[in-house]
Amino acid sequence: MQRKPELAGGHASPSAHDSALVSIRGLKTYYSIRGSFAQRLIGREAGHVKAVDDVSLDLGRGEVLGLVGESGSGKTTLGRTLLGLVPATEGSVVFDGREIVGLRDRDLRELRRKMQVVFQDPHASLNPAMTIEQSVGHPLEIHKIGTSDERRRRVAETLDTVGLSPPEQFMVKYPSDLSGGQKQRAVIARAIILNPVLLVADEPVSMLDMSVRAKILELMLELKREFDLTYLYITHDLATAKFFCDRIAIMYLGRIVEIGPSRAIYENPRHPYTKALLRAIPEPDPRRKVPRDLPRGEVPDAARPPLGCSFHPRCGQAFEVCGWETRDLRDLLEQRWAHQVEEQYEAERALFDDISVLDSSAVHARLRTGRGVPGAALAGLLGSIRDENPSEPFWTGVEQVATETDAVDIRWREPLSPRATGVGDVQVECHLYDDAALEEAARRREEGSPHTTVGGTGTPTRQGAPEGSA
Ligand SMILES: Nc1ncnc2c1ncn2[C@@H]1O[C@H](COP(=O)(O)OP(=O)(O)OP(=O)(O)O)[C@@H](O)[C@H]1O
Ligand code: SF4
Ligand SMILES: [Mg+2]
Repeated sequence: MQRKPELAGGHASPSAHDSALVSIRGLKTYYSIRGSFAQRLIGREAGHVKAVDDVSLDLGRGEVLGLVGESGSGKTTLGRTLLGLVPATEGSVVFDGREIVGLRDRDLRELRRKMQVVFQDPHASLNPAMTIEQSVGHPLEIHKIGTSDERRRRVAETLDTVGLSPPEQFMVKYPSDLSGGQKQRAVIARAIILNPVLLVADEPVSMLDMSVRAKILELMLELKREFDLTYLYITHDLATAKFFCDRIAIMYLGRIVEIGPSRAIYENPRHPYTKALLRAIPEPDPRRKVPRDLPRGEVPDAARPPLGCSFHPRCGQAFEVCGWETRDLRDLLEQRWAHQVEEQYEAERALFDDISVLDSSAVHARLRTGRGVPGAALAGLLGSIRDENPSEPFWTGVEQVATETDAVDIRWREPLSPRATGVGDVQVECHLYDDAALEEAARRREEGSPHTTVGGTGTPTRQGAPEGSA
């Protein structure tokens, strides 16, 4: 395959592979939420969803960077922000030497020729009333590139390049005449027809039949090699990312929690979330039954993220400083009650007055007891819950439980937010790899008062040092 010759108005292909094509620093993209009646009903008040929350990363020229994470982690928002399709709230995105954040629409339009996007649903991406020739040639028309004959030739060449051959047959067809895989090939043709340098591929194969997924990814790799493309490949599927990406960034609730070369991520995952995602990859051989070990619980609401490390409610290794708070106690109680018979639940629930104090996020709560119930009875219940499962990490975060006549006063340890730490050739955002956080946890543990209630997983130790020990 040859790189297509430039038509009038085209751009030179990138040749330098040494500097970053995209440099993202301190990027934040927040969506305002209005706090409608319906949202308030589900506990969402007016405020912000921190879809991208202080992300910094580089995308090297010619690199395939995989952006992996569960639904709602902010992958699409990050991709759209770097294309200038969603305004950044704060931070910087430098693309090919130019700052994108704050750029006027006109300047952005010009830059967008160099950066294209392929979305998940090829059917929705193609106008059903346009022929494949019209759809694929549309960007040339928008940018007024070439004569109609030149455009037609370019469309034919590009269709051929993406495997829609003979092109004449496909040019006259409508999207409804094509299979899912063929439609995605047409979408890819439209994305590369302007000779871009960057392609953001947002789950490009997740809606396709299993049988064509590998073929589309192979095509994308071939195009990357031939046309010096750089990819941001967005997926929730670590298994395909493994064979497709040079580096992987793991995203969780708006943050990159681990980033590094694919090999390092697969062979030696560091972050507890990455480890859980890898364990959740289904076993290809159906005869071998390996349990899918997804992190416990759901992805929390991004509008009200957990304190400290936002992964802490789902993390089996969480400890003192990871961000324990009121909502974790509420979840613990709800999970317990969900498994109890009615009478048991009624008896335990009667020990509490109003437990909605646990709904707001705080490191201190005064839990009033139910009518006529002494504080000691409620403290006793909390103690027995802890004793039933002392290795539950939640208890490491409880600093003090004070029993009053008609209440129990609980204080959690001050949360720390994890910071990016270099471990070998990966960067990981987890206190287990940060000596300062571990020392702080140890200090707080030693400072514990005589009333301190501590259980949990024992003393955490520095992970990942020396290299490879995680
Ligand atoms: N236009 C919007 N207005 C308000 N909130 C939004 C908007 N778009 C996305 N969000 C919220 O931002 C967060 C990140 O969403 P995003 O679509 O970027 O995640 P994602 O990782 O791409 O998820 P998926 O895997 O489901 O595509 C989610 O909490 C989502 O509900
Ligand atoms: S900082 Fe690390 S150990 Fe703590 S909750 Fe987050 S991922 Fe788990
Ligand atoms: Mg998405």
